[in-house]
Amino acid sequence: MEKVNEKDTDTLCCVTSTAPVNIAMIKYWGKKDTDLIIPLNGSLSATLDQGQLCAKTSVAISRSFKNDRLWLNGTEQSIDNPRIQSVLNEMRRRIRKRKFDESDLSESFTQGMSKWHLHIVSVNNFPTAAGLASSAAGYACLVHALSKLFNIEGEVSSIARVGSGSACRSMYGGWVEWLPGEDTGSSIAVQVAPEDHWPEIRVLILVVNDQKKPVGSTDGMQATVRTSDLMQYRAKKVVPKRINMIKKAIFDKDFETFAEVTMKESNQLHAVCMDTHPPIFYMNDTSKQIIRFVHDFNNEENTIRAAYTFDAGPNACIFLLEENVKKFISSFSRKFPPSSYENYIRGIPVNFEQPTPATP
Ligand code: DP6
Repeated sequence: MEKVNEKDTDTLCCVTSTAPVNIAMIKYWGKKDTDLIIPLNGSLSATLDQGQLCAKTSVAISRSFKNDRLWLNGTEQSIDNPRIQSVLNEMRRRIRKRKFDESDLSESFTQGMSKWHLHIVSVNNFPTAAGLASSAAGYACLVHALSKLFNIEGEVSSIARVGSGSACRSMYGGWVEWLPGEDTGSSIAVQVAPEDHWPEIRVLILVVNDQKKPVGSTDGMQATVRTSDLMQYRAKKVVPKRINMIKKAIFDKDFETFAEVTMKESNQLHAVCMDTHPPIFYMNDTSKQIIRFVHDFNNEENTIRAAYTFDAGPNACIFLLEENVKKFISSFSRKFPPSSYENYIRGIPVNFEQPTPATP
């Protein structure tokens, strides 16, 4: 990244990054600190291929900009969004922690916001807020681009975390754990296995409905924390054991255990949503038919060949091994003809990648 001389009034410095979504097998649902976004329990996910479901964000800083501005999918949004401001403030804190160089443009960003302004432009290549982890990719991408712009090195997943909790996991490729931690420095994501560790794994995204979900994750999970007794039990007694089980399954490439834990986790997420008062329903009838279909598919050969997982929406993510993809799709298409469920398969992300610089 080139340093910019402040006297060079019209200089514009711009960085573009792309970041993929991540799909959680062990779910994050509930915060113990809502400002810092410290979760009640740890979680674990796979970061998907850049080409399929990803966000692309450009950040530009210039003295010729009159104020900070943000565009999301072509529409201007308020830059005063508290999550965006948390990310920018955390970024400023990191910049202040390191030694200043007079010509460094990040000094201008922290001290002279009246002179230098940021423009942020972000696009997703998939539906926003439909339970497809759009905020995770979006904030991971923003933090990656800002870190490059301001030369922030080292641990940056905790900056993405203050934008959206699950975003910290999209800062790494491969299999990623979010260690819950106690404070902002210890609540970070770590890679537990690299991108190429289990190359036979595939994910199908079954888009049941790409409309915005009725209850957002942020509000939904705090309603669960306030009202569900099951949630307290889950966070303390269930999740830690499942994290260990699934990590071992990933290390050993043991698909059956991996699949069983993944499906049970998804079901428990939706069980605590149901235990919330009033209850929250993210899955619809089609989602439930997909669950039944996957169990029938597994029963056919008496072996677990596919695993579903649902986040805060009706869309299914199906994990399976490469050798079973064709069989699954052909069997699925017979049960759910494309004419009745248009667009139900939105890609087969294959590689697991982390955010990368991109050509604007
Ligand atoms: C259901 O990260 O969107 O996808 O931290 O409030 O922004 P905030 O929530 P968010 O929650 C996602 C929850 C989930 C499960 C998961 O990804 O682990």
